[in-house]
Amino acid sequence: MTIETTPSAAATTDRIRAFGKVAVLLGGRAAEREISLKSGRAVLAALQRQGVDAHPLDPDATVLAQLRAGGYDRAFIVLHGRGGEDGQIQGALETMGLPYTGSGVLGSALGMDKYRCKLAWAGCGLPTAESVLLRGEADLPAAAALGFPLMIKPVHEGSSIGMARVETVDALEQAWRSASEFDDLVLAERWIQGAEYTCAILGREALPLIRLETPNAFYDFEAKYQANSTLYHCPCGLDATAESRLRQLSLDAFEAVGASGWGRVDLMLDGTGRPFLLEINTVPGMTDHSLVPMAARAAGIDFDALALRILDTSLSRG
Ligand SMILES: Nc1ncnc2c1ncn2[C@@H]1O[C@H](COP(=O)(O)OP(=O)(O)O)[C@@H](O)[C@H]1O
Ligand SMILES: [Mg+2]
Repeated sequence: MTIETTPSAAATTDRIRAFGKVAVLLGGRAAEREISLKSGRAVLAALQRQGVDAHPLDPDATVLAQLRAGGYDRAFIVLHGRGGEDGQIQGALETMGLPYTGSGVLGSALGMDKYRCKLAWAGCGLPTAESVLLRGEADLPAAAALGFPLMIKPVHEGSSIGMARVETVDALEQAWRSASEFDDLVLAERWIQGAEYTCAILGREALPLIRLETPNAFYDFEAKYQANSTLYHCPCGLDATAESRLRQLSLDAFEAVGASGWGRVDLMLDGTGRPFLLEINTVPGMTDHSLVPMAARAAGIDFDALALRILDTSLSRG
């Protein structure tokens, strides 16, 4: 007696085989290393559960040699922050001809640079809060002239690292000094008072919005990773028309800076309901509790299916 494989099971097996040997790049040396390790392990487990020949690789200076020697067919990038999310590893992989997940060099680099990302948005008429780039102390008066409160943020960090809300000239100077420890470039941005949302992008599709609610002054490191008091609302509570408009805005913002494959767009609505784009993430968190998996679940895509859909994004780049 022969055991028949259903066509769909056979198709799934073919799809899994087509990925070949996959390196899950996780960890790295950026400030968000620990988060990346968590995300990477979750992705690795999901891929292995489904039969993908996936292996973890925590990159150091020998990463390209390891990828070549290991006979890998593609890379699943789960590196957050500088070095892994900013176009560097993407460019190296392009050079060696190894397909990888998510955004290419340009989208990754712009996504990692909060200042130039905002310039690109402003250039194509997409809404983002007014801001002043702080290259040095001499730029502080121009920032103060925007009016308080202001949000101070390092241009190339993530996870709310080095960020502060300031209400006075003195606090502005102090926050600029603290943020400067993380980055040569610091952004002073007009404070948006209102509700915060995030929009996950998968392929060419914007997934359901999540509304974030925290008792903290903003969605800071503690609210992101430690607090039990952060609330995530999905469905987000907006009416269908308003939500679909914001989903389209998020997709436009993502694609405007050359990002592709998958990611997340953070945005806020002020008291009058006007939207402001905050930033994009081209390698957002992928733990069980992360926002992209949460939005995917709301769209009927479980974590395992999501991991495969993201791995699919490496096929189209070739
Ligand atoms: N202009 C702003 N006004 C009010 N809150 C802000 C502003 N910019 C950022 N925030 C808050 O800070 C958090 C982190 O900012 P974001 O720009 O998303 O950087 P990252 O998440 O990369 O650290 C946001 O989720 C939001 O809560
Ligand atoms: Mg953010």
